[in-house]
Amino acid sequence: MNAYPNPTPAKAVTPEDDQLFRLLRQLERAPDASQRATAEALGVSLGRLNAQLRAASEADLIAVTERKGQDRRQRFAYALTDKGHQTKNRLVQSFLTRKFAEYAALHAELTGSVGDLMPLKYRSTLMQSNLAPIPELYVSYDSAQKLKVEAGDLTSHDLTPRQICDLELLMNGGFNPLKGFLTEEDYNGVVEDMRLANGTLWPMPINLDVSEAFAETIELGQDIALRDQEGVILATMTVTDKWVPNKSREAEKVFGADDEAHPAVNYLHNTAGNVYLGGPVTGIQQPVHYDFRGRRDTPNELRAYFRKLGWRKVVAFQTRNPLHRAHQELTFRAAKEAQANLLIHPIVGMTKPGDVDHFTRVRCYEAVLDKYPQSTTSMSLLNLAMRMAGPREAVWHGLIRANHGCTHFIVGRDHAGPGKNSAGEDFYGPYDAQDLYRANQSEIGCEMVDFKHMVYVQERAQYEAVDEIEDKDDITILNISGTELRRRLREGLEIPDWFSFPEVVKELRRTSPPRSDQGFTVFFTGFSGSGKSTIANALMVKLMEMGGRPVTLLDGDIVRKNLSSELGFSKEHRDLNIKRIGYVASEITKNGGIAICAPIAPYAATRRHVREEIEQFGAFIEVHVATSLEECERRDRKGLYKLAREGKIKEFTGISDPYDVPTNPEIAVETENLDVDNCAHQVILKLESMGLIAG
Ligand code: PPS
Repeated sequence: MNAYPNPTPAKAVTPEDDQLFRLLRQLERAPDASQRATAEALGVSLGRLNAQLRAASEADLIAVTERKGQDRRQRFAYALTDKGHQTKNRLVQSFLTRKFAEYAALHAELTGSVGDLMPLKYRSTLMQSNLAPIPELYVSYDSAQKLKVEAGDLTSHDLTPRQICDLELLMNGGFNPLKGFLTEEDYNGVVEDMRLANGTLWPMPINLDVSEAFAETIELGQDIALRDQEGVILATMTVTDKWVPNKSREAEKVFGADDEAHPAVNYLHNTAGNVYLGGPVTGIQQPVHYDFRGRRDTPNELRAYFRKLGWRKVVAFQTRNPLHRAHQELTFRAAKEAQANLLIHPIVGMTKPGDVDHFTRVRCYEAVLDKYPQSTTSMSLLNLAMRMAGPREAVWHGLIRANHGCTHFIVGRDHAGPGKNSAGEDFYGPYDAQDLYRANQSEIGCEMVDFKHMVYVQERAQYEAVDEIEDKDDITILNISGTELRRRLREGLEIPDWFSFPEVVKELRRTSPPRSDQGFTVFFTGFSGSGKSTIANALMVKLMEMGGRPVTLLDGDIVRKNLSSELGFSKEHRDLNIKRIGYVASEITKNGGIAICAPIAPYAATRRHVREEIEQFGAFIEVHVATSLEECERRDRKGLYKLAREGKIKEFTGISDPYDVPTNPEIAVETENLDVDNCAHQVILKLESMGLIAG
């Protein structure tokens, strides 16, 4: 039986009620005390006390009698009337109910029994809930040591990078009130209505997706160990649910369209496992981070920090991009508007493919942080795996920020937008995120501060909110878009001081040097004997003559000898061979070198894979050495075509194996009418036109 009154909250107690209760209690305790003593006991001025006494007397809560012949300071005696007693008792009752309700909520949170939780909305009116500790899923240090040993015998699941991010926030309370990966019932509720089975608002499916093969080995009720990519056990999970989700439905409902142009839909269909496991998680240890450790905080660490500094109101700024002057201006304004302290809370987990890497960004943030007043602003890194789900993502971000002790959250235009869909249109309207947030704000527990679109007004040399500018026709508004910024960085062009801070630009230039200083890969493809190796060699020598960057030649024959000696010429082996070449070339490109590859590479899909891998780090130039098969066979320098025709070499490209002619190479060279030097020169001209080498 519940020993406490029903936690259904009583009417909120106002500060006036509190003051009245304290006054009546004090008069009851010491009816003969002097006014000064009573004022001191209540911690109010004499004037304030007099006003309170007058009001209480007029409301017939106290009777005032004059004490003749007494000390001047003790002229009056105060007695509670019947109505006064009743009022005091009523206030006691409501005070106790409030305290019990708070206690019940805290108890429910600490013991994890969600059923007894008061709605967040109510909790926040009762206590400074953003500062109180929130429940985590970790067991104590001693239990963790024991559990770790026991978990060694359990079936293990190796977590993907995204699952590690999700697990970290589950365990540290960032995803409170979730107690583990979603069950099927919770998942269905979240997908359909943004609500867990018990009705709590939660917009994002947090699932443990696994392969069918792994799922088959798992029985319901079984405990499994969740390991990071080095094999360290981070948690155990009791599998209570196992199901095959309808991924298209999930894509439609959560991301707004089953369109793989959306990064999360692409992930859902092409990376995520086909079976979901659900069940409660027991946390053993936090994922290890070697970078920026001092800048990472759990929700409880941030709450403790805010408590310590006395920050009662905190506005969070979410970002996955470097901060420039416009962002600084906007965050200043948001903090001023909310009369709150400011938390810069950037994402360092997973963001949109193609974003500036988090190492560079954090160095940029650190540079910008110096421009904020230290006592009002702080920065903490959030290891969240974003889904780019626009409106739902904004609601999710708000809930996560509330868990991190923030009271306000900045939601901008096109918050967490995924870019264009496959028809070239935006997935969401620019203010859909703000609208959905506003509609759910009371349950999120974190008030929205809408993004003011800040623009630079040249004449006044300052940033202004675009909706507040009245003389638009008489001024010059300057702006540099993300695409334009990337172009300027790529081409080494000026980035003006009004746009960003010199320190930020310096960091960005270090990571994105102009193209003429970046690494790149030239990838020759064509039949055996087409002249790939000869042109590649000539190109290598020309580039080495120019100097500046190290050049590596990954010729087909050289690679087959040194990297792929065990491979043959089946499709599977050829793909593996090309992927190895792609991997080495991507490393060379990443580190600022030039990789020249010259394999046959007959399959278009594999060439595309290599292109995608390399383009993360630098340019990829596909060169089709378009010598015809007849010409190659006529030349037959190695005598292989003859053997292939005689059937002595199997799976020979062009004779008994396919070759996908490149449809869109950066350049195609003709070797039948041009000499090698000329072909290599054509490639050099192409590299020049792409800004990769100086003209
Ligand atoms: S692939 O398809 O890209 O993995 O081929 P690659 O690594 O470039 O190797 C091609 C060289 O191997 C010799 N060779 C064959 N080529 C094609 N088909 C078969 N079955 C085959 N068997 C041996 C051939 O000499 C190729 O050299 P290049 O430099 O292309 O003339």
